[in-house]
Amino acid sequence: MDGNGRWASKRGLPRSAGHRAGAEAVRRTLRAAVEEGVEVLTLYAFSSENWRRSEEEVSDLKGLLLYYVERELDTIASEGVKLRLIGDPAAFGPNLATKLETAVERTKDNDNLTLVVALNYGSRAELVEVARRLAEKAAKGELRAEQIDERLIDEEMHTAGLPPLDLLIRTSGEVRLSNFLLWQAAYSELLFVETLWPDFDGSDFRQALAEFARRQRRFGGR
Ligand code: IPE
Ligand code: MG
Repeated sequence: MDGNGRWASKRGLPRSAGHRAGAEAVRRTLRAAVEEGVEVLTLYAFSSENWRRSEEEVSDLKGLLLYYVERELDTIASEGVKLRLIGDPAAFGPNLATKLETAVERTKDNDNLTLVVALNYGSRAELVEVARRLAEKAAKGELRAEQIDERLIDEEMHTAGLPPLDLLIRTSGEVRLSNFLLWQAAYSELLFVETLWPDFDGSDFRQALAEFARRQRRFGGR
């Protein structure tokens, strides 16, 4: 979800206004995803690199997240959305982390759409964590090196149990993965759109699904 800052500066507004408008885009996109019967929607809300932003902007983003969780939880819970987190939300402090965990707990039996929110997430950090965990198991004799395969790595990832990532959309014209789901995206369709995230809406999302449906996926076959 990229382009909040540019959206704001085009309007002579502070970056925080762009993030607020971005939160509206989240609401619209989630609604469209539920309507279209999407099984899992993952949002890259805050990367482990985003801490490099100014203290003010980080605190704006945290505030917005808190506001969103408090205000939207009833709605998403009643729509049958199951919330799941990837990354390391503990870094946002006990207040926000506890609220997020409560939201996860409250929606855990929902089975309409799984909304995965990546918070303080970085794909390389996730892979490092997996490597360490497997190495520890091996050191304790619980695992032999030759038992490590793709399935086992999948099961150790934050995304364990989720279906394969089909489509990855990046907004705002940037053409990079920026440390997002690198392992999981091995065979994903990638879609880069010019729309700035705060302008993204249900029709953009439906267009993206239509584009995905036109792609021929071969998974390395021919
Ligand atoms: C993405 O928009 C929002 C988050 C990282 C939360 P940006 O803030 O990166 O917007 P640009 O790239 O400055 O336009
Ligand atoms: Mg950006």
